[in-house]
Amino acid sequence: MRPARTLSWTIGAGLAAFVALGASGQGQVASEEEAMEVAEKRSEAMKSMGQSMRTLKRFAEGRGSAEDAAAAATVIADTAPALPSLFPAGTGMAALPDSESKEVIWEEWDDFVAATERLGEKAAALQAALDAGDSGGIGAAFGDLGKNGCGGCHSKFREKRDS
Ligand code: HEC
Repeated sequence: MRPARTLSWTIGAGLAAFVALGASGQGQVASEEEAMEVAEKRSEAMKSMGQSMRTLKRFAEGRGSAEDAAAAATVIADTAPALPSLFPAGTGMAALPDSESKEVIWEEWDDFVAATERLGEKAAALQAALDAGDSGGIGAAFGDLGKNGCGGCHSKFREKRDS
């Protein structure tokens, strides 16, 4: 696990520096049409991470290939830094009836961005564990990713509707 930690810290520090530079902002949508378009992209990005988590779960349970697991972890690692741009102001549940995005996202934007960074760090830690091929480390990193990476944001910023 030591290489994984070093890697995730390095990436975390890099991201923190990057975000500090660009911290001024949330995007803004110009029209309802634009809001719906971005919400659709966001939904696709989240669903593809959901699919990736299912692939990773199978692998953690001893099924599926290491190649598929690595690709799934990469999808999540690559999606994390793009998440802030998929949440411009005016695209939450107040504007879009189908959205599950709570308005607190824009009230506590720095905290939301930090949650996307945390996701990136945890995905990187899982990538490192997968590279090392250490099954205990993979299981731990997968659990941490789901609980604190995805769940850590959903618990505060997403209001899941009955479906
Ligand atoms: C930084 C916050 C954040 C992180 C991290 C995050 N999500 Fe989400 N997720 C949201 C929000 C907010 C919504 C609601 C979006 C909406 O409906 O407007 C959502 C919605 C979803 C949905 C429902 C999409 C739909 O349209 O049906 C899925 C599935 C999902 N997330 C999976 C994941 C998985 C899996 C991870 C981790 C790999 C993850 N999310 C990480 C904030 C986050």
